[in-house]
Amino acid sequence: MPGTTEPRKPASGRLFNYANNGLTIAGAVLTTLSGLLIVIFLLAQLWGGLDNPYIGIFAYVVLPFIFVLGLIEIPIGMWRRRRTLQKRGATEAELTAFPTLDFNLPEVRRVALVVFALTALNVVILGAASFFAVDEMETVEFCGETCHTVMQPEYTAYRDSPHSRVACVDCHIGPGASWFVRSKLDGLRQVWHTALDTYHRPIETPLHTLRPARETCEQCHWPNKHHGDKLRIFSRYGSDETSTPSYTAMLLRTGGGSLDLGRAGGIHWWHIYSDNRIRYLAADESREEIVWVELTTPDGQVRSYARDWAEPPAPETLAQARVMDCIDCHNRPTHTFHVPAKAVDWLLDTHPELRELPYFKREAVAAIEGEYETRAAGMAAVRDALQTYYASSHTELAQARGELVAKAAALAAQTYGRVVFPEMKTDWKTHPNHIGHDDFPGCMRCHDDEMSTADGAHTIPMDCETCHVFLVEDSPVYPELAAALG
Ligand code: HEC
Ligand code: HEC
Ligand code: HEC
Ligand code: HEC
Ligand code: HEC
Repeated sequence: MPGTTEPRKPASGRLFNYANNGLTIAGAVLTTLSGLLIVIFLLAQLWGGLDNPYIGIFAYVVLPFIFVLGLIEIPIGMWRRRRTLQKRGATEAELTAFPTLDFNLPEVRRVALVVFALTALNVVILGAASFFAVDEMETVEFCGETCHTVMQPEYTAYRDSPHSRVACVDCHIGPGASWFVRSKLDGLRQVWHTALDTYHRPIETPLHTLRPARETCEQCHWPNKHHGDKLRIFSRYGSDETSTPSYTAMLLRTGGGSLDLGRAGGIHWWHIYSDNRIRYLAADESREEIVWVELTTPDGQVRSYARDWAEPPAPETLAQARVMDCIDCHNRPTHTFHVPAKAVDWLLDTHPELRELPYFKREAVAAIEGEYETRAAGMAAVRDALQTYYASSHTELAQARGELVAKAAALAAQTYGRVVFPEMKTDWKTHPNHIGHDDFPGCMRCHDDEMSTADGAHTIPMDCETCHVFLVEDSPVYPELAAALG
């Protein structure tokens, strides 16, 4: 019957009345929408379709934040409306009256329809937008280009590495839920440092927040897969007039396998695979100076090695020993800042015509090793240095082969841009590579023939053949190994 209302509790009418304001309604909408999205994400993840690290930051960090924000808005809006009503001198009856919504009135129906349609649209838009935002954040471009200066060295090196088609998140976050939450919290800290411009230059390595390598690398490189030797041919060029090449071919005993397979041995098996365990203590943050090493063999024997047994490590120090994993050798699997001499060797390998320019190797290396203020200035200076050198010291050649000189100068400049990043104080010296022993201590951090057991019975071996077998050494011609066999 129109005009009569059911008896009601004044308190609930009061609540509705207070809630009838923009802020509270907005809060209620935010809370409902974000709540709904959280449920959708949760269901989607349970379904197994969204195994994406960044869904986590969105579903469990951003959305709950909006949810709570909405929740906070609700009482604030109500409190403000109550104050306004009281100031206006509203009567008790007015304060406790429900807002009337009469769906017999066409305007009310229209408004209700519009509100319903807009809300539905919002849900769709917000949902789609967040899905794409999440998808976007997972891309290499997002990681490499969003924080442009900060990540430039790693991104540049990455783009021409064997992993240039592996997403940053595959190594830096990996699969599973707990690591994305951890990495996202760490990410928030990094965004903070970037915003305040208080990040380290260079970004410090080793990364202590890096997920254990075996959980990431072994998604693609699993233990039993490595066995046998790996053929490597090194092309090196001299600093003489013709940048004379010299080739060395060797079999690296990478090995792998396991005792169960009946094929176990080599570099990989010895240091990381489950049958053997090696842990160590380093005297410095960068793990360059290794002071104590321990080997636990498959039959349970434990052997410790040190250079100096006068001061054996204290038990509390031993508790911090690091178990060797992939990163203790492959610390630059993707972000390799090559030593200039090696980077120029690569240029000569891929552009043999550069050898027609006298002293190309010597001059390019000298220019790249120079000190410059910025990366752009360095690239320009390297280009100038080479052009000036040929114009002044080999004038006739520079005139006759102007194009080749220009190309050589451009390639050398590019090479500089690939390995030196003054803005981030990053280059090959700040980020040494542990594979090998030619430019950095690398394997010789332990295999220097001085790390021995206390009784001197065992020494970590340094014989060349422990790690590789030379097939050809310092040959002036490229070794055509297959031809030699045929
Ligand atoms: C193949 C695996 C892999 C991929 C792919 C990868 N990284 Fe790394 N990255 C590493 C490892 C391993 C380290 C740690 C080196 C250490 O701790 O010594 C590292 C270190 C870093 C560092 C610390 C600074 C440094 O140079 O050591 C940054 C920054 C970084 N990576 C950014 C990126 C970005 C951006 C991408 C994508 C464009 C990416 N990474 C892709 C493996 C990878
Ligand atoms: C998502 C897959 C994936 C992940 C994760 C991954 N890699 Fe790789 N890795 C590759 C592919 C693909 C290649 C290139 C193979 C080729 O070119 O033959 C490669 C090549 C390599 C090579 C050989 C490089 C060379 O010069 O030939 C090394 C060493 C390596 N990866 C180490 C690592 C390490 C260490 C990690 C962990 C930090 C890692 N990878 C993580 C896919 C992956
Ligand atoms: C003791 C040092 C050491 C450790 C630890 C180590 N590696 Fe290696 N790995 C090497 C060396 C040395 C090579 C050969 C490098 C070269 O090509 O010059 C190699 C080669 C590789 C290759 C290329 C193989 C091929 O035949 O092309 C892959 C892939 C690789 N390692 C993955 C891994 C992964 C994954 C881990 C961790 C589970 C790991 N390595 C741990 C030293 C190591
Ligand atoms: C943290 C110390 C450490 C580093 C770094 C290290 N190794 Fe080792 N390595 C050991 C220990 C310990 C042994 C076992 C020595 C023994 O048998 O007494 C070993 C054994 C080996 C063996 C087997 C030797 C044998 O008796 O057959 C090879 C091959 C090898 N390492 C290669 C490498 C290569 C290649 C690198 C660098 C990429 C490297 N190691 C880096 C500690 C290290
Ligand atoms: C503990 C293992 C180990 C021992 C011992 C070792 N090497 Fe190596 N060596 C390596 C590895 C790993 C590489 C490959 C580096 C790379 O991938 O760039 C290498 C590379 C080289 C190269 C090529 C360097 C280049 O970039 O042009 C030469 C030359 C070489 N070794 C000589 C020797 C000689 C000589 C000995 C003996 C005195 C020796 N090595 C002992 C692990 C070892």
